[in-house]
Amino acid sequence: MSNDAVSFLFLITIFFGCFLSTDSYSEILLPTQLHRISSPVTCPAPDPNLYYQPVIGIVSHPGDGASGRLSNATDASYIAASYVKFVEAAGARVVPLIYTEPEEILLKKLELVNGVLFTGGWAKDGLYFETVRRIFKKVLEKNDAGDYFPLYATCLGFELISMIISEDNNILEEFSARNQASSLQFVKNAYIEGSVFQRFPPDLLKKLSTDCLIMQNHRYGISPAKLLGNKKLASFFEILTTCNDEDNKVYVSTVRSRNYPVTGFQWHPEKNAFEWGTPSIPHTEDAIRTTQYVANFLVSEARKSSKRPVAQELRDNLIYNYRPTYCGKAGKGFDEVYIFE
Ligand SMILES: *[C@@H]1O[C@H](CO)[C@@H](O)[C@H](O)[C@H]1NC(C)=O
Repeated sequence: MSNDAVSFLFLITIFFGCFLSTDSYSEILLPTQLHRISSPVTCPAPDPNLYYQPVIGIVSHPGDGASGRLSNATDASYIAASYVKFVEAAGARVVPLIYTEPEEILLKKLELVNGVLFTGGWAKDGLYFETVRRIFKKVLEKNDAGDYFPLYATCLGFELISMIISEDNNILEEFSARNQASSLQFVKNAYIEGSVFQRFPPDLLKKLSTDCLIMQNHRYGISPAKLLGNKKLASFFEILTTCNDEDNKVYVSTVRSRNYPVTGFQWHPEKNAFEWGTPSIPHTEDAIRTTQYVANFLVSEARKSSKRPVAQELRDNLIYNYRPTYCGKAGKGFDEVYIFE
């Protein structure tokens, strides 16, 4: 085609583009953009097998999360707002699972969510432990019954499910990993496919093992030898990564379940983007990307759930019915917490 012919077609197209367009405005396009005029303005239907309004239940932890600065009530429990933001940033909403609530209420709330998150903390016994144990059993039951129902167990959450699965409350060991950033050592031949690390772009995946993008804050943990030496734990979990503590003792840092959509983190993926009270929390762009990729995995798993909760019942129980309190003004601890009394 001659240049004149191209220009002629260009002008004709603009002419018809202007006068036949039903848009409230029209634009002048370059020849390379002309195909846009004739392309249909329809979007492909989303995958009908996925649920695009997923909700995650987060279990509250005893206390006020602020060493009594916010509440001394004996029945008080809290959720650090960083876990809520972590979930929300990846496109899901949150229902708080308040651990002091009667079992019937907690079971009803579990029917409103598409996955569960166990937070960090320190409590390892009493009603809190019992509640976590009951919810964990329910997560396995739901999956056994064919409802895809993911669980993210962070720090204490991972420690608790290790105690529950092994049926040994003394399975944990002490480590020196308080308030420190670390890298992750990938286990040789770790099966990344379908795990939390699968979606990481290769550059970031590589940096996880060379840079300090991971926030650790724990006194307890489990060594690979102890995990693999326990039949129940070894058959439930596959170890993906380990870390070294300050004394060079190796602990398990990320696990996935072999048969369930359950992921355990000894570290804190939620802190990088949302907590500011501890100087050692990494906030580099790569650290923030790490938070985001981990959150995206959790929510992408929840989208596979077949549960479609009743809208009004869900709205009545969403975290939006509660207000977070700013407690980072003290210059330490969590920045914001939701308190339940
Ligand atoms: C909780 O108790 C401590 C110690 O007695 C006190 O310093 C603090 O102000 C109390 N917190 C509240 C919210 O009343």
